[in-house]
Amino acid sequence: LTERDLEGVRLLVTAGPTREAIDPVRFVTNHSTGRMGYELAAAARRRGAAVTLVSGPVSLAPPLGVAVVSVVSAAEMYDAVVSRASGQDIIIKCAAVADYRPAEVASHKIKKAERGLTLALERTQDILSHLGHNRTPGQVICGFSMETRDLMENSRAKLSKKNVDMIVANDLGTHGAGFGTATNLVTILTREGAECLPLMGKDAVAEKILDRLRDLYRAQEER
Ligand code: C5P
Repeated sequence: LTERDLEGVRLLVTAGPTREAIDPVRFVTNHSTGRMGYELAAAARRRGAAVTLVSGPVSLAPPLGVAVVSVVSAAEMYDAVVSRASGQDIIIKCAAVADYRPAEVASHKIKKAERGLTLALERTQDILSHLGHNRTPGQVICGFSMETRDLMENSRAKLSKKNVDMIVANDLGTHGAGFGTATNLVTILTREGAECLPLMGKDAVAEKILDRLRDLYRAQEER
């Protein structure tokens, strides 16, 4: 029997990649499959939370009992998340949001020419950072971090720079961790310290993340 320890908690999770259009047929994206975010949404629902899942384009079935908001681009995800943020107790930004998008989207398909093509890219808005710096009282915010080097240093920096309560650092260099796998190898960073989890199923990782977020949320409530 699952413990319904998130009963009454409103939780929003983002998942998947975003797609940034180049022209009507092409886009820039990344390898995210959405699996970790969907596991988090399903687990939170099982534990009694009212769950909103803001999802980029993925090929996963939405978990039962979860309100799904489908988005494509980083700008759409920003609007979907920011407009719902104030009604949430816990926000988990698991999505691999594109950091850059084409500065101009061609309205017609770009025709190929003999020479190469240079794309100008501009920054997208950092949704997590916006949430961290505009949080409502008592809200608990969690981000993810994926790096190919200096994982702990970079992840710890995100905790303070984005003003969030937790960063789940994903080890991309290890077999069985990261994109598309059923397992993950993560370290949970909070202001109190770091907890390295062993390689385990993304479903089990989701439960661990929710345990820590529940504790942080309860601690905030008691203040
Ligand atoms: O700074 P970096 O992209 O490495 O941080 C990753 C975290 O920030 C993830 O939680 C991701 O969802 C979030 N993020 C975001 N908006 C962006 C880029 C990243 O919310 N434009």
